[in-house]
Amino acid sequence: MTVIQTEGITYYYEGAEKPSMDGVSITIRKGVKTVILGANGAGKSTLFYHFNGVVKPKEGVVKVMGEPVSYRRKGLRQLRSRVAVVLQNPDDQIFGQTVEADVGYGPRNMKLSEEEVKSRVEEALFQTGLGELRGKNTMQLSYGQRKRLALAGALAMKPEVLVMDEPTAGLDPQMALELMELAEQLHNRGTTIVISTHDVDLAYAWADEIHVLKRGKLIYSGSSEDFYRNPAEVHSTGVMQPSMFVMNENLSAMRGTDPSPYPRTESQLVSKMASGPKGRLTLVAVKSAADCNIERFADGTKTGVYGTAVRRLVRDAGIKTDFGFNGFESCIRECLAGRDSVLLCDEDCIGLAESKIRDLLAFGSDIKYTISGPDGSQRLS
Ligand SMILES: Nc1ncnc2c1ncn2[C@@H]1O[C@H](COP(=O)(O)OP(=O)(O)OP(=O)(O)O)[C@@H](O)[C@H]1O
Ligand SMILES: [Mg+2]
Repeated sequence: MTVIQTEGITYYYEGAEKPSMDGVSITIRKGVKTVILGANGAGKSTLFYHFNGVVKPKEGVVKVMGEPVSYRRKGLRQLRSRVAVVLQNPDDQIFGQTVEADVGYGPRNMKLSEEEVKSRVEEALFQTGLGELRGKNTMQLSYGQRKRLALAGALAMKPEVLVMDEPTAGLDPQMALELMELAEQLHNRGTTIVISTHDVDLAYAWADEIHVLKRGKLIYSGSSEDFYRNPAEVHSTGVMQPSMFVMNENLSAMRGTDPSPYPRTESQLVSKMASGPKGRLTLVAVKSAADCNIERFADGTKTGVYGTAVRRLVRDAGIKTDFGFNGFESCIRECLAGRDSVLLCDEDCIGLAESKIRDLLAFGSDIKYTISGPDGSQRLS
């Protein structure tokens, strides 16, 4: 199913001679993790302004859920409750005086009950780690905090499609990792996510499909590998090949093996090379701090966390884990090296972890795992 479709859209900014969007036909499909790539000035932000009706194309049509966008006030309000765009510059979308007021701005505009607004604000503040700043004046936030606030405002809309323009630019590396993990959780819960980024490594690890823009034109839509296989083309669009892609090509050439299947993550790359016995991964579904009694595991067993909620919970309860960030990848590395490890997971991350472990099969690693449920139940793979 298609969530957003543009048909031959062309757009000129006021007084410009050249179009910033030049006959772009792009299809964003439901549930497909989508990345828009392109150099500075390629037209990524301009494309996103079309997705939520901030600009109207001079030619062509934008369709959302199969319907052409209505640019009347009511139509736009409806559109923005279904498609939330987090703009590149957070200052373009922060209106409230305090953090809390700003996050509630969108839901209040949707005329939701005050109770619903409050619960959405709480959830969005939690997801973006802004709970402690709720009363703070928005003018007094750092740039990264404002980026997170803009995201919180979009999350509070509970959109069907979440579009993020350069979401990790200006975030510290931990927050950037956390944001991508959150994007994965939202995707798993059914939100379609579209991001633009210059960070090709991050995009490569995450995207199911990429679209590449060059000087306002769409020049590629499809899988990452097919695009990156042609370095001259990649460089001419102002981006670079991801380091994981290059490393895999080099290793395959050295070993005389087929570069395919292409690993997107460290654990997939290491899987291709790991031999010998693997450790077992225990996935612990965590609802409360009581579920985290990691002392029950053998001394020296490394532990990680996977999910926004469990990360906050572990931090607030003062529980020490070895891998607070990038927990899945780090624990899998342990297992690939033959050691058992334990991953404390948000409940909705268990299924995600299982599917990622299954993905490793294609790269030659059969990692056994145990799921330890919040009710004390155990399930072995
Ligand atoms: N408000 C504006 N007025 C006039 N021209 C603009 C305006 N905003 C963008 N442009 C032009 O439109 C083109 C596309 O810009 P856009 O911001 O969409 O690129 P981008 O791919 O998002 O770049 P970046 O990676 O720097 O964010 C550029 O040539 C830019 O100069
Ligand atoms: Mg931009």
